[in-house]
Amino acid sequence: MYNKEQTKNLQQKTTDWLLKINKENAATVTQPSIEDLRAILRFHEYRYYVQNDPLIGDTEYDVLYKLLEKMEKENPSFITADSPTQRVGKGLVSSFPKVQHLVPMLSLENSYNEADLVDWDRKAKELSGLPEIEYCVEPKFDGASISLIYDNDQLNRSATRGDGVVGDEITQNTRQIKSVPLTAAFSNYGIEQIEIRGEVLINKSNFKKYNDKLIEEGIPPFANPRNSAAGSLRIKDTAEVSRRNLEAFLYHVSYITTTDNRQPTTHSGMLDMLWNLGFRSPKKEMIVVKGIDKVIQHVAEFESKRDTLPYEIDGMVVKVNDLQLQERLGMTSHHPRWAIAFKFKARQATSKLLNVEFQVGRTGAVTPVAKIAAVAVGGVTVTSISIHNEEYIKEKDLMLGDTILIERSGDVIPQIVKSFPELRNGEETIIRFPTQCPVCNHPLFKPEGEAVWRCININCEAQVVERIIHFVSKDAMDIKSFGEANVRKFYELGLLKDVPGIYKVDFEAIGKLEGFGKKSVDNLQAAIENSKTQPLHRLIYGLGIRYVGETTAKTLANAVDHLLEFTGFSEEQLQNMEDVGIKVAGSIYRFFRDAENLQLLQQLEALGISLKNQKKQVALNDALSGQTFLFTGTLTQLKRSDAESMVEENGGKIVSGVSSKLNYLVVGEDAGSKLEKAKKIQTIKIISEEDFIKMLPA
Ligand code: IVH
Repeated sequence: MYNKEQTKNLQQKTTDWLLKINKENAATVTQPSIEDLRAILRFHEYRYYVQNDPLIGDTEYDVLYKLLEKMEKENPSFITADSPTQRVGKGLVSSFPKVQHLVPMLSLENSYNEADLVDWDRKAKELSGLPEIEYCVEPKFDGASISLIYDNDQLNRSATRGDGVVGDEITQNTRQIKSVPLTAAFSNYGIEQIEIRGEVLINKSNFKKYNDKLIEEGIPPFANPRNSAAGSLRIKDTAEVSRRNLEAFLYHVSYITTTDNRQPTTHSGMLDMLWNLGFRSPKKEMIVVKGIDKVIQHVAEFESKRDTLPYEIDGMVVKVNDLQLQERLGMTSHHPRWAIAFKFKARQATSKLLNVEFQVGRTGAVTPVAKIAAVAVGGVTVTSISIHNEEYIKEKDLMLGDTILIERSGDVIPQIVKSFPELRNGEETIIRFPTQCPVCNHPLFKPEGEAVWRCININCEAQVVERIIHFVSKDAMDIKSFGEANVRKFYELGLLKDVPGIYKVDFEAIGKLEGFGKKSVDNLQAAIENSKTQPLHRLIYGLGIRYVGETTAKTLANAVDHLLEFTGFSEEQLQNMEDVGIKVAGSIYRFFRDAENLQLLQQLEALGISLKNQKKQVALNDALSGQTFLFTGTLTQLKRSDAESMVEENGGKIVSGVSSKLNYLVVGEDAGSKLEKAKKIQTIKIISEEDFIKMLPA
């Protein structure tokens, strides 16, 4: 897309603009200078979203973007539809009109084993009369399919698959996907109109973040990234679509009108062309091979890498590479004969819903948990699955005794995808929600506008125990030797009755319990002692303030020097913080206005737990200040998450990819492509884990 010369040129221009902004706040605005700035922003979007290799930081991008916005606002006549600012839809889409695809969007024939592939190859050879066929093999992306139509280099229309013939027009939403260019120079290839197909995805880490947020808000999460991508494409609020961080892989040219014959003649050539025009095609993820044996070998290799990819794939697609041969092989009414999908081992399985138990969480929320007939899915045996709330049970139409479809994708917790009402035999029974707390018998209450029934007895044993378990958990105060089982045991024995009780436990009494030798008591004591100086965000998260997850806890911790400063924050001040909406701000505000909570915090402080933001203080005379780090390969002495925290605690920053913005690449065992990439950028210092540890203050 951008050759070396252009890259250098655009990077130089970026620096010039950033300097200029600092100096004169860009007083002189002309149409060419706006176009220049747009070209710079498009270049950085491409580096970030398509190549996954940014050359500038997010803040620098934002500064340039804001300037463009300002320039366009002051000179509206200079705005063009393909300006980077014109992606951001501000309004609501009223509906998604139905549109007919230029060519029906067929699906693919599926194969599940080697024999299926051999058989398919044999038929293709027979039909073509060739002794061996060249194939292109690429991942089968597990998302929602879309079509994009470009007319005279401009993105003109985008649609969902729909029934394959007619889909929903979702152009406004597709414009929010930063890896989809709004303009692309197809005319350089003699192309007037082109329809491209691809898959919209949410990567695993964004999916997890988004689902965690839903869970925190008491909303049932999406079962898998595919459902979440498909759902996101049909949201009417384009700004919300933009926030979902959708990505797109474009893998097929389905229709083309041309002025000459400058177009590629192979499928892999088309992927190259798309890549060169700024699309994220699977150019780097595909291979071209001759003969089905090599296809089979590659497919097996890729399946073993499946869990290491940042996005979900559910198989591979094998395509005849020569486009003329594709044409000759043609289509059946359901699928092309020139392509076949190879499906990986299923991560879905059917089971039976045997029983529902009701668990009381630390906020009093009563969660139904389905007990199901044990079934292996995605490499683990599943016997219970959270079914969230009463509405979810209705929505999924669940009854005791139902056959259900469950899914566990990657490291996502198992979910029920659907029930099969058509398989009922009349013996199924309705799931009845309790009216009283299953632990303390207190009547349950459902606040207006919420989906969750709660036990509002703050002294309900289940809640107290869950609060302590949460406080000591790995992502909160991380008191290792405590653990869920010990908390329950000590509570039952009366050795622990609340959170401050952790710091007052009677070690002598514990030492007398069966299974607790001197060593384990010493370990417990040391772990409790260590937790007193955990970073503030861990304490905040551990307090279990409603809607405050790890990310919000970090934001809060960074805003103060001492936790009790929040008692003076207004709701408005809280709302001004990143990622804190009205609901979250209200919850934090109430927490720090509650006398019992304040008493708890004072008690903790008196017991020696630090309420101070130590990180802020360390960061002031910081060892790694202003330096960026990235870890690659397997670390042998430190846990990756701990190493990353150490960087941040010492004023450094973790970046997501290798680019000229990176100062240090810390290399563990079996480092791969990141190391290779870093070697090509001279300014990056490549160091070992030991070197990194030496950089930390003693
Ligand atoms: S080619 C005419 N390539 O899988 C056939 N499809 O089960 C065009 N998919 O509807 C499709 N990754 O949504 C193709 N690399 C890939 C794909 C892919 C995912 C989806 C696509 C299609 C479905 C068929």
